[in-house]
Amino acid sequence: MMTPVVHNNAVAMALTQQHGCTACHSVNQKIVGPSFSDIAQKYAGKMDYLAARIRSGGSGVWGSVPMPPQPLGDADAQTLAAWLASGAGQ
Ligand code: HEC
Repeated sequence: MMTPVVHNNAVAMALTQQHGCTACHSVNQKIVGPSFSDIAQKYAGKMDYLAARIRSGGSGVWGSVPMPPQPLGDADAQTLAAWLASGAGQ
C-alpha cells in the first residue's frame, strides 16, 4: 500500500498540540514517550499500524510506561500516522 507523504509539517505539529500529544512527546527528545523522530525511524511506511496505535495507545514497546488510548478522530489519526510514517518532518 502506498504511504501518502505529509509535506505539511505545520499541520501535523498543530494536531499534536491540539490533541495533547505534546504533553508526552516532542519531535527530537524523549519526554514520557519516545520522540516522534525515533517513532518515525522505527515505523517508516507503517501507516496503518501507526494510525491504529495512536488511537488505542499501548505499552511494552519502548519501556514500561503505557500510552493511554487517545480520543482523536480517525481522520486526524490518519494524518498523524502519515506524517510519522513519512519521517515526521525529518
Ligand atoms: C500520557 C502520555 C502520552 C500521550 C498524551 C501520548 N502518548 Fe504516545 N506514547 C506514550 C508512551 C509512554 C509511549 C510508549 C508506549 C510503549 O512503550 O509501547 C507512546 C508511544 C507512541 C507511539 C509508538 C507506539 C508503538 O507501538 O511503538 C506513537 C505512534 C505515539 N505514541 C503517538 C502519539 C500521538 C500521535 C499522540 C497524540 C494523539 C500521543 N502519542 C499521545 C505516551 C503518550
